[in-house]
Amino acid sequence: MHDDAALLSAQVQAELDTIKGWFFPSDRRIFSWLLARQTELGVHGNLVELGSYLGKSAVLIGDYVQPGETFTVLDLFEGETSDAGNAAEQADSYATLTEQRFAENYLRFHPQLPTVVRDVSSVIVDRVPAGSCRFVHVDASHLYDHVAVDVDSARTLLGEQGIVAFDDYRSEHCPGVAAAVWEGVLDKGLQVIGVSENKLYATWGDPEPWRTALLEWLTDDQNAWGQRLAVYDQSIVRAKAWFPRAMPPPPAPAPRPVAESAPAKAGAAGQPAEDVRREGRVKHLAKDLLPPVVSRHLARRLRARRR
Ligand SMILES: C[S@@+](CC[C@H](N)C(=O)[O-])C[C@H]1O[C@@H](n2cnc3c(N)ncnc32)[C@H](O)[C@@H]1O
Repeated sequence: MHDDAALLSAQVQAELDTIKGWFFPSDRRIFSWLLARQTELGVHGNLVELGSYLGKSAVLIGDYVQPGETFTVLDLFEGETSDAGNAAEQADSYATLTEQRFAENYLRFHPQLPTVVRDVSSVIVDRVPAGSCRFVHVDASHLYDHVAVDVDSARTLLGEQGIVAFDDYRSEHCPGVAAAVWEGVLDKGLQVIGVSENKLYATWGDPEPWRTALLEWLTDDQNAWGQRLAVYDQSIVRAKAWFPRAMPPPPAPAPRPVAESAPAKAGAAGQPAEDVRREGRVKHLAKDLLPPVVSRHLARRLRARRR
């Protein structure tokens, strides 16, 4: 198993980590689980990301869009904002961002772009129909005034089984996100499903089935961990998930003498049987663990290696 785990982990990092951003393994796996589970349960709706930066999280979300659903990505990109605090935030953290760079990254993973809106996050309610969404990722400005509006927008946009993910809900450098999110819980009916190190997941629907299923997944998966925590009157899930630990690549096999007879069972292109079995195991694991977009890249790499 170790070789397979090493290969998977290396692939995941290599593929999504070619895009600069702040979307870490725990949340990559939790996003994948939530988005896939919604589809399994027949929850249909549009997807929205407020704050895409260079596309790291958008690439993954884009992989779960189903026929008939739209994915709208909104960001200021290189555009102006009239709010001085927000302008300073842009200059400090995202000075080299352009919509073109986002598009180039996205198109390396997907054949076509999502709907891209270059504007402040508050306009999202004019661009996506109210009540039409199943997933909203709030990761734009981290200033209180903006996030408080994003909480309201998420409430407007989400349908009954919709889920919102808030980035940086507990970080030292952006207390405004925490203030806006917990205000959402105390004053606006937001129900927390769970928290990871970097994101808080919530709904305005019934949170309990989501909490139960999330904890079940975290408990059953050997690369995840979870527990219940009480906050106010809510029993939320603390979630951690990861990719199998990277291991050093296996040593290259010693060269065989040319005259040696062929292995008992070889792959289609004369590939040694053990390699074929190993690739089969990797593909199987990849299907279980990885977002489809990364599995497809992995499969392409394996095919290229065989040539
Ligand atoms: C933390 S980054 C997003 C990271 C991205 N989701 C990822 O996982 O890599 C925040 C983004 O929000 C954008 N942004 C900042 N203020 C905004 C606002 N008021 N409206 C829309 N986008 C904003 C920035 O341009 C930046 O790209």
